[in-house]
Amino acid sequence: MTEPGALGDLPPDEMRALLHRMADWMASYREGIEDRRIVPTVAPGAIASQLPSLLPLDAASMDTILQDLDRVVMPGVVHWGHPAFLGYFGSTSNGPALLGEMAAATLNVSAMTWATSPAATELESRVVEWIRELVTLPGAFTGIVYDTASVGLAHALAVARSRAVPGARAEGMRGAPRLVVYASSEAHSSVEKAMILLGLGEGNVVRVGVDDAMRMDVAALRSAMQRDVTDGARPMAVVATVGTTSTASVDDVRAIAELCREHAAWLHVDAAYGGAMAVLPEGRWVMEGAGLADSVIVNPHKWMFVPLDFSVLFTRHAEELRAVFSIVPEYLEGDAAGGAAADYAVDYMDYGIQLGRRFRALKAWMALRALGRSGLESRIREHCRLAAVFAGWVRASEEFELAAPPSMGVVCFRARGEDALNEEIVRRVKASGRAYITHTRIHGRTCLRVGIGNIATTEVHLAGVWDAVRAGAVRTDSAD
Ligand SMILES: Cc1ncc(COP(=O)(O)O)c(C=O)c1O
Repeated sequence: MTEPGALGDLPPDEMRALLHRMADWMASYREGIEDRRIVPTVAPGAIASQLPSLLPLDAASMDTILQDLDRVVMPGVVHWGHPAFLGYFGSTSNGPALLGEMAAATLNVSAMTWATSPAATELESRVVEWIRELVTLPGAFTGIVYDTASVGLAHALAVARSRAVPGARAEGMRGAPRLVVYASSEAHSSVEKAMILLGLGEGNVVRVGVDDAMRMDVAALRSAMQRDVTDGARPMAVVATVGTTSTASVDDVRAIAELCREHAAWLHVDAAYGGAMAVLPEGRWVMEGAGLADSVIVNPHKWMFVPLDFSVLFTRHAEELRAVFSIVPEYLEGDAAGGAAADYAVDYMDYGIQLGRRFRALKAWMALRALGRSGLESRIREHCRLAAVFAGWVRASEEFELAAPPSMGVVCFRARGEDALNEEIVRRVKASGRAYITHTRIHGRTCLRVGIGNIATTEVHLAGVWDAVRAGAVRTDSAD
């Protein structure tokens, strides 16, 4: 045991023993996850109240800390990795990726310049090339890894802003016209967040309506852009979505690209979820027209079995992105190679707001290699099959109906009847501890949504979720 007050890190022997203990803890968690309630029963504050409000003066032993992991922390965890967790877009850990995370944590390097860890940079460059090819984007696109799609989008729109107002980096927006961004009513809220961050105002996001299949109404987009030009505003960018958050609908990117060309507007394709579909030959159509975009985001942490967080912004204008963000302070000059993103001696710090960057590529490299293209394809295809099976159960039932066409791994449906019943079903399913689904609103009505993307989900788990949903629909006084 470490002497109280000893300096330095844990002694090697003690650390080795703890690593073995932690490995057992991790393996047991993974093995036993299906026996756990997915959602904990804790009330707000239940965890915090067990933690001291100030860091205690005295060091705690690792034994105590690891006991507290089980005693204090675990009761407040939602088990996203549970195969019956079908909320949001499932981001699942998996064995190879977990080993990659462990290696990255052990190394703890910063991939800010090539020189600060060549392997971290070069692995990142290679892995994003794999992903670019997997999602069928042409070689003209360069990929940059960020934590999330929200952050990647803000970077893409920063470049669009500099295109519209070339002096924006140096002088800000003095004398600039009003810059407008368009996205469908189904597009992700990260569009507004990016505009807030860039100082362009969420009020300058125009939400365009959708058709029956929840795709952006291109005629309405045309009218909105024309109207804004007439009013003296500048259409800065359009965000098209391939796999919307609620229903996984796919916008007509090619038609939208044509409008962007007419207005010299930046086209961003949010393929955070849906890009993975293009890994399948039968799914390639989803990326139709995406090669015409200025930027495209794909989140391997959504449907490519890379755990949180790992998002790739692909752009045909990496040099413009660098021109917007690159600042090399004196103290970093010795380690800055200044290579372009297409070369391998690239300094990724030049392509965004972040300086320190985790070695994220390691987990992606391990996860993707361990699957291979065929393993990736078969899992994505199986998730689509499971979604179709679930949609079949909905269609065959008298109490439920589909709320939107099933797409990719997403099925939106509703209990026939009022919104309150559907809200109650979500609440009851979660409260059961056996399954997890979410709700969404489609054409103004509350609907239920399952998102299949967990590497461990099988048809047996799906049947359990369907049972929980049907049990949740049994009317009681409170739901009537
Ligand atoms: C279509 C789509 N785009 C973007 C995002 C934002 O993703 P992130 O959490 O990586 O910022 C989401 C989140 O679910 C999404 O569904």
